[in-house]
Amino acid sequence: MATLIKNGRIITATDDYIADILIDGEIIVAIGKNLANNAETIIDASGKLVLPGGVDPHVHLDMPFMGTFSSDSYETGTRAALYGGTTTVIDFILQQQGNSLHAALDEWNGRANGNAVGDYSFHMAVTDFNENTKQEIKSIIETEGITSFKTFMAYKGALMIDDHQMVGLMEEVKKHGGMINVHATNGDMIDELIQQHREEGKLAPLYHYLSQPEITETEASERFVDMANQTGCPGYIVHLTCEGALNAVRNATKRNQKMFVETCIQYLILDASVYENNFEGAKWVMSPPLREKKDQATLWAGINQGLVQVVATDHCPFMWEQKLMGKDDFSKIPNGHPAIENRMELLFSEGVVKNKITLNKYVEVSSTNAAKIFGMFPKKGTIAVGSDADIVIMDPNEKHTLSVSSHHMNVDYSGYEGWELTGKVKTVLLRGKIAIDNNTCHIEKGFGKFVKRNKVSQKI
Ligand code: URP
Ligand code: ZN
Ligand code: ZN
Repeated sequence: MATLIKNGRIITATDDYIADILIDGEIIVAIGKNLANNAETIIDASGKLVLPGGVDPHVHLDMPFMGTFSSDSYETGTRAALYGGTTTVIDFILQQQGNSLHAALDEWNGRANGNAVGDYSFHMAVTDFNENTKQEIKSIIETEGITSFKTFMAYKGALMIDDHQMVGLMEEVKKHGGMINVHATNGDMIDELIQQHREEGKLAPLYHYLSQPEITETEASERFVDMANQTGCPGYIVHLTCEGALNAVRNATKRNQKMFVETCIQYLILDASVYENNFEGAKWVMSPPLREKKDQATLWAGINQGLVQVVATDHCPFMWEQKLMGKDDFSKIPNGHPAIENRMELLFSEGVVKNKITLNKYVEVSSTNAAKIFGMFPKKGTIAVGSDADIVIMDPNEKHTLSVSSHHMNVDYSGYEGWELTGKVKTVLLRGKIAIDNNTCHIEKGFGKFVKRNKVSQKI
């Protein structure tokens, strides 16, 4: 079954031109002017942008965390992602301390298999690196196609590993062609500040923010960068938020070290002023917390300097009732914020429309770079002959308003209520099939496929 997208303005990380795209089955088979018009489905994209499907490499769906589960399932989360133009997500499997990586993989497969609407892959979070875990790394990479390993330098007692484990894991992962992703904040410093605030009766969400000052992220980022340099293991810092942490990476480039950096949409466009001294601030209780305006400026510049390659979400939604678990103690508020559906439109409106980034850079950081870094390119992350037909058709001029009343994420508030955006995702194709059109989802749960990934490349 063939589909022809006619006369759209095709944007990739490097190109910008008007042409037709012919799709046969799941794959793009031709791109050119005035392609033959005998396809069963014809989509007129005149006046619209035609973009590669978004790739969000940092989401948490149905994740057990802080005594509860993130509220989007694979079904609701990947469907909401599609509405917002993200066709592939990478979720995090969490090893349970004392158990194997393969046991965790089985558990996550149980959650995702048959439930995803959009395509997905996994990172493997190693929370307990020991002789047994070490033996599993090779097969996780080579057999399962999971080539990135997440580590936490915070959340002591649940997810955090120490530097000894980090270095051991780096050696093993490097040997087999993988990469380490890191949540780089100093868990001990943070726990100390949390304890002090609680003892002083400072229990509002504001103190979540004040328990994780910039230095806690700068210190851990510097340490991680140094350990990666020492071991020669490829590294990727997730959800980087601030000037100090980015300077750690900038300094590493002076010794010609490559360190990949992800920030998230919220760190570019929101700041810590949301943490007023009332419980409303719980909507934005996430780790690391939102920072200052100077950090936003550093991150936008970092994107244009090529120091920040990816804009993700760290989508980790909780219902308001779940956030209320911490109404008397900020340290019990489940950490995380919903954005899987909003990322592409927010980044377009706040980034491209406001002239902070070019259209090509927009595609690079919302799709192409993540596909390249995580071994999915050119199947995902571009519009090219032979690539999966994951395509977003966007009206760059349409204005719309974000609201909980119209979003599709399974969460009962929006972190962006009332935000007026320019640029709306109109039609989304996933592997050649119309997934979203006319504000309706046309594919069912189970359509989403697991994407096995290649070994990492440090060339992007
Ligand atoms: O607040 C956050 N970021 N929640 C999800 C877990 C993590 O640290 O990424
Ligand atoms: Zn994290
Ligand atoms: Zn996360």
